[in-house]
Amino acid sequence: MKKEAAIKRIGVFTSGGDAPGMNAAIRAVVRTASYHDLHIYGIECGYEGMINGQIRRLETKDVSNIIHRGGTMLRTARSKEFMTKEGRAIAYENISANDIDGLVAIGGNGTFTGAKIFGKEYGIPIIGIPGTIDNDLYGTDYTIGFDTAVNTAIEAVDRIRDTADSHSRLFFVEVMGRDAGFIALNAGIGSGSGKIFLPEIHTNVEDLFKTLHKAIKRKKLFSLMIVAEGNKSGGAQSLAEQVSAEFANYEPRVTIIGHLQRGGSPTAMDRVLASRLGFHAVEGLMRGKRDVMAGVVNNKIKYTSLKKAISKHKPMNNDLLKMAEILAL
Ligand code: F6P
Repeated sequence: MKKEAAIKRIGVFTSGGDAPGMNAAIRAVVRTASYHDLHIYGIECGYEGMINGQIRRLETKDVSNIIHRGGTMLRTARSKEFMTKEGRAIAYENISANDIDGLVAIGGNGTFTGAKIFGKEYGIPIIGIPGTIDNDLYGTDYTIGFDTAVNTAIEAVDRIRDTADSHSRLFFVEVMGRDAGFIALNAGIGSGSGKIFLPEIHTNVEDLFKTLHKAIKRKKLFSLMIVAEGNKSGGAQSLAEQVSAEFANYEPRVTIIGHLQRGGSPTAMDRVLASRLGFHAVEGLMRGKRDVMAGVVNNKIKYTSLKKAISKHKPMNNDLLKMAEILAL
């Protein structure tokens, strides 16, 4: 835990889509920095706030009573201006004006893309904390917010199950995840759904029709299908329309869970993960780590370059995929 004197003032911000557990990460960053007598600054609204000079000193008391809250106390934004050289120059002026000499960026792909460019252009040490419900970053088994989002999706599907069962109806439930199917796969397994439609796997509508024909023979019209928003078939609505056109017996219904998955109190798993990553982000910065993301792999802290975290593809777990198909039979 030896601290490197070089870093004295850390700026922390959240950027991109919010994720439950971001507050727990901010809390851990602030408290770890305070423990090491570093000054810590909160930058509001991500890169947008960096450009607008929304920067304020944070003390340990400022992060009391937030560990259980969803959203982010620092607020967030997706900044177009930061994508320009001019925008980043203004952001750097504001960082320098506050003598900030290290940054902790909490977010996903877009956040780390910005951090990588900014770090290279201005030589400021930056460390990333993976905060996105999508779980689509390489170099960490889980991202902050993913577990809460999956639990929220499962709770929603449980409720839909009640009405689907009562009416013997087929439901297509669409979950978030952008281009990745991690939420869909886990929510599908955890809710005991039928087929799971992922972006990573080609959707064969004929296969779906076969399954539904078999179900009709068994007089089972009740079924729950989980569709990832990034699935190439056009999403839950399109699948439902194709089924309606093919079958007279089904009147499928569609539920898009949407932003419900982004809110709510973080699960225990997300709180602990966020606390660990916040702590190790500050420790890493102090030990001279730069342009890396702090992640957890096989329950151990691992630092992965921001470049790899955003460009390398995080594979789906093939065992889980196979198992999901068998259990859905
Ligand atoms: O990246 C998180 C996420 O919730 C994705 O799952 C989704 O595709 C996207 O953000 C939605 O973005 P917005 O909140 O801008 O509509």
